[in-house]
Amino acid sequence: MSKGTRVGIVGAGNVGATVAYSLAMQGSCHEIILRDNKIDVARGKALDMSQAASAVRSHTVVSVAEDISDLTDCDVVVVTAGSPRLPGMSRDDLLMINANITKEVIVGIAKYSPDAIIIMVSNPLDAMTYVALKESGFDRSRVIGMAGILDSSRMASFIQEKLGYGGGQIRASVMGGHGDDMVPLPRYSTVAGVPLTDVLSDKEIEEIVTRTRHGGAEIVGHLKTGSAYYAPAKSTSIMVEAILKDTKQIHPCAVCLEGEYGYKDVVSGVPVMLGANGAEKIIEVTLNDLEQDMFKNSCASVQELIDSLNKNKFFGDK
Ligand code: LAC
Repeated sequence: MSKGTRVGIVGAGNVGATVAYSLAMQGSCHEIILRDNKIDVARGKALDMSQAASAVRSHTVVSVAEDISDLTDCDVVVVTAGSPRLPGMSRDDLLMINANITKEVIVGIAKYSPDAIIIMVSNPLDAMTYVALKESGFDRSRVIGMAGILDSSRMASFIQEKLGYGGGQIRASVMGGHGDDMVPLPRYSTVAGVPLTDVLSDKEIEEIVTRTRHGGAEIVGHLKTGSAYYAPAKSTSIMVEAILKDTKQIHPCAVCLEGEYGYKDVVSGVPVMLGANGAEKIIEVTLNDLEQDMFKNSCASVQELIDSLNKNKFFGDK
């Protein structure tokens, strides 16, 4: 019998657990292993989900890693561990707290699942993807951040709300970092192939762009004690499935740029082809002057976070 597919999920909070639930319901892999410091919470959720999987006749088994050393031989590991973003807290406030958590987790993953593809979900997303890349020593194709699918889905849903039609037919495009200066691209967004600019006014499009940029904060404002998790989790499971099924489909994801778009050694969201080897190809979209400026600002914000980690000697002597 060939080896089954194994997905590790570090952090069994709302996002991690919902990724696991989504994968288990789809039967996307053979095994899901949840890892959380709150081991009883992980145990309870794993049992609950395995039972839900039985209910829908899915073959996926959900179990628990008592220790990071149990997270062996995973094909994909999703990292959601970190302090959540609370009301009034910017994604960037989380920088040092989550960089330290990420470092510890990544060192364990690199040791016990050295062939895994890592999907980063913790915030600030782009900086944590950079930390994961440096601390794992993996090739950049195997350390990918989730955010572009989420931000594009938010934009698509705002477009649908504004139009009042076109549900399921909207392709929205967002590039850049997962921060307030992300780069929504109306020029590359369509409703059933019809350019957005043909169905909405400039003012309406501007409203959608602004709302997309603050899409995460809007939900934090309602929930008050935490941040969004259904759309972040679904976006993550789409990436996991693209990798496990080797779909070679294009999704916007955060990767470390090495010359693409004119940037080096900085993580940003760009369209990538996902397959069994991770981010197998980076697609370079033509951007006009305004879009290039926005992308530059967004990369500069991520660079500031990386600089601040360097200033704090986070990466040591490596
Ligand atoms: C979001 C966060 C938490 O929902 O980054 O976008």
